[in-house]
Amino acid sequence: MRPLLLLCTCLIAANTHAQSTASLPVIIEKHGRHALLVDGKPFLILGGQCHNSSAWAAMLPKVWQAIEAMHANTLETPIYWEQLEPRQGEFDFSVVDTLLAQARAHGAHLVLLWFATWKNGSNHYMPEWMKENASLYPNVTGKDGRPVDSPSPDAKAAQEADTKAFAALMRHLKQVDAVHTVLMVQVENEAGAWGSVRDYAAGAQRSFEGPVPAELLKPALLKALGVPVVSAGTWQQVFGKRADEYFQAWSVAHYIGRVAAAGKAEYPLPLYANAALRDPLTNPEATNYESGGPTDNVLPIWKVAAPALDILAPDIYLPGSERVLKVIDLYNRPDNALFVPEAGLIHDNVKYLYATLGNSGIGFSPFGIDDNTLAAADTAALSKLEAYGQEYAALAPMMREVAQWAFEGKLKAVVEHEDHAAQTLDFEGWQANVGFGGGRSNTLPGNPKTDGKAMIAHLDQHTFILMGTGCRVSFSPLGNNAGKAWQYLKVEEGSFVDGQFQARRILNGDETDWGGPQFGSRPTVLRATLVVR
Ligand code: DGJ
Repeated sequence: MRPLLLLCTCLIAANTHAQSTASLPVIIEKHGRHALLVDGKPFLILGGQCHNSSAWAAMLPKVWQAIEAMHANTLETPIYWEQLEPRQGEFDFSVVDTLLAQARAHGAHLVLLWFATWKNGSNHYMPEWMKENASLYPNVTGKDGRPVDSPSPDAKAAQEADTKAFAALMRHLKQVDAVHTVLMVQVENEAGAWGSVRDYAAGAQRSFEGPVPAELLKPALLKALGVPVVSAGTWQQVFGKRADEYFQAWSVAHYIGRVAAAGKAEYPLPLYANAALRDPLTNPEATNYESGGPTDNVLPIWKVAAPALDILAPDIYLPGSERVLKVIDLYNRPDNALFVPEAGLIHDNVKYLYATLGNSGIGFSPFGIDDNTLAAADTAALSKLEAYGQEYAALAPMMREVAQWAFEGKLKAVVEHEDHAAQTLDFEGWQANVGFGGGRSNTLPGNPKTDGKAMIAHLDQHTFILMGTGCRVSFSPLGNNAGKAWQYLKVEEGSFVDGQFQARRILNGDETDWGGPQFGSRPTVLRATLVVR
């Protein structure tokens, strides 16, 4: 290449890079699947969330130690309203700036969690000047007339104050984060109310006795909520025995929707709200969980009430694979990208990282990754990170490819259930059979745990990428080749480097016979080509 042409090519490349690094993170949707674009390409948040009181300079060294130990590419960290606006209208962005500088120094991204009006259903992160003025910034009034430890979604002054503070935060981010260290912002934290299904204060009661807003009376929405289609009515008339909860969901979502919209108008990053879940299998009464938050049954209400939120996201602390997989299914909707911003930091939850990615999820993050030195936390926190660390380390070099496969619908995953039963995944022309330990057929002996998992991407007709632990994978031909004999043409173990699979070795013999390649306790990446005989 001649020098001038080379120079031009370099300039174009440099310019393209400058433009692409300047492009905002954005969530896109195609055929009901989603991707989070970072620098213009699908990206996976391999995240970790620090403890609630760890976003202080004195605590950050341990947070970064954890992020590094787990090979995470993103730290989820709170931003505290009480710290950001210690006196009304005076903003202190020093913690935000410290987080940005340290994240960049560690080569990590951030997801900021706006701990403001709601934190786990309470108002505990409101600034002192608000806590001291309960008449202007009231809590929910319970059915018995007593105050509940949860902010009222009907409190106009609180909504106004939160809206201004969140807008100020987003305005500041726009000014100081041209390189997009911050990928997304969570608006509030697990909003809703424990202790009362709704607010029974006089103003809220008047609204409850008034007509349901027209936005909620669309036939498709009423059908999605499982109630008869009507054109008008009070909350009680339209929603019957779920009226109290749906009113609370509308009120909370509407409040947060306004906060989110004000922030988005300043700086249009992807925004989301997280949910303290209810049991998705039993349709329990709203007295059993945080009422009004984005639980699975009220997602349609939240979508209408808070359109500035891109995602409603489940925090996974429920036990049992059937329950968790149901949650993953319910939050993966054409109008809602699947993102798991919190999961309990327990070994068995690692498998839901696979289930999330296999459902075109954009990211996953266990909660409480740092040793925050309190008795309630675990001084052995680092050892708990190991299971995530090995998965993130294996995924990191192929993170962009996995995100692209998930977006294109090429990626599927299975996780081991409590019965250890073998499972299948159907692809065009092939069915993958995944066996786990503990069962009787097509299983691996000697793994009594329920932590097996496999992720399989169908690259072309006979080529697959397999990743997993605690399982083995074989295939059967489908379609025109159904019933025919087949075998592995080649099984290579390796990893992705700059978008290309590079084999370390070919697996054969004991490593692939007896029911397909076996995956042990450390995640392995294989490229398998198959042949019909
Ligand atoms: C869920 C909340 O969103 C987190 O902030 C934290 O309080 C965890 N629960 C604790 O388990």
